[in-house]
Amino acid sequence: MDESPKGRKCAGMQGLAKEGEEVLDENSDSEALDAGLIAAAQRVEHYEIAGYGSVRTFAELLGEAEAVDLLQQTLSEEKETDEKLTEIAKEANAMAISGSASEALEEVEEPESTQPPKRSLKARSARA
Ligand SMILES: [Fe+2]
Repeated sequence: MDESPKGRKCAGMQGLAKEGEEVLDENSDSEALDAGLIAAAQRVEHYEIAGYGSVRTFAELLGEAEAVDLLQQTLSEEKETDEKLTEIAKEANAMAISGSASEALEEVEEPESTQPPKRSLKARSARA
């Protein structure tokens, strides 16, 4: 396109990276750490998907066929990564729930239930 590529810091992505660091800081010894990190990574992927999808559409409108192809390839890769993270999350989420259940049971003097704590499950789904 005869333009020199320039970059500038992306405030949105910096914010997502900071959120990921917060997950790490707040859950470093929790069974939910992996689930939290995967969720943070998926936020990054979704942000990328939105960006690549938009510029791919702009390229289509401008009739830039080569750019459309390249941007579509990258968009597809981002979507594949998101799908892989969803698969990985299934196991990590199950471990987080069973881990938080055993943590909760350790805190209760008379454990009568092996059900995962509903409060934690609601809190997680509210954030998703
Ligand atoms: Fe990505």
